[in-house]
Amino acid sequence: MPKISPKALSTQHLLDIPSLSDYDITAILDLAGHYALQKQPDPVLTGCVLVSAFFEPSTRTRTSFAIAANRLGARLVTWDPEQSSLVKGETFMDTVMNIAAMAPDALIMRHKDFGAPGYVASRVNFPVINAGDSWRAHPTQALLDAFTMIRHKGALKGLRVAICGDVSHSRVAVDNMALLPRFGAQVRIVGPKLLWPKKLPLGVEAFEKLEDGIAGCDVVMVLRLQKERMQEGLIGSDSDYFHAYGLTEERLKCAQPDAIVMHPGPMNRGVEIADDVADHPTRSVIFEQPGNGVFVRMAVLDLLLNPKRHG
Ligand code: CP
Repeated sequence: MPKISPKALSTQHLLDIPSLSDYDITAILDLAGHYALQKQPDPVLTGCVLVSAFFEPSTRTRTSFAIAANRLGARLVTWDPEQSSLVKGETFMDTVMNIAAMAPDALIMRHKDFGAPGYVASRVNFPVINAGDSWRAHPTQALLDAFTMIRHKGALKGLRVAICGDVSHSRVAVDNMALLPRFGAQVRIVGPKLLWPKKLPLGVEAFEKLEDGIAGCDVVMVLRLQKERMQEGLIGSDSDYFHAYGLTEERLKCAQPDAIVMHPGPMNRGVEIADDVADHPTRSVIFEQPGNGVFVRMAVLDLLLNPKRHG
């Protein structure tokens, strides 16, 4: 069994990528690599009780945190907003402070409001893990995306990564653009100008035409149109969008011959991606990403909940 003993993270909470040091990110990715090799990991979180509070829907993130917690021996309490006293008019913060009063060992939280997990973190004395807030941050997704790229391409340094589609409403894009250039990847965004962020991070290039944007890229990451965060009428019909921006096998030929295709999910097939690309046996790693999410989230939970074990 490989031995790995990273030091504790420099932060009590996991809120976004900019608040992690390069060491923190490397420690999480290294420990995730360790957990990827373990058939039966040590139950290092035995006795821990975590609360998972998702104020927005989720399949991948919620389930993979639950599996990660279970694999490490923790117990997870799943809090459901629709079955809670929120429906009787209780405020968000009263809800959170009531959960906090029950002294969980950590809170895993997703919320539609900008910075909500950070606000909660400033009011409680246990780790808060951001499982996605607004269009702003989704740190464990960016970490699992980096982990997936490293598994397939060896390293982030020098990789050309195209993030395609609705970048302006994507918390996945924000944290990927914060992480990848720090480790030497060249990042481009690709899509209609209306879906570009107002301000591009330093070093990130923008392309309007899909074929130009993915040309020569090693990684093509496709994003869905996030209509729930979009002004009505911002873009045309789904079929017009697919015609201009859908990733098809033909268009994928513009990228490197061994380029991998990623998507954080949920996918809208026939809108931003064609079936044959989504299901491509060698190029698509879309159904590997959620599994890597379990390893990354095991590493995050271990490092945040076990600071003494990590010195
Ligand atoms: N990638 C992602 O956040 O997916 P879910 O919304 O299903 O968690």
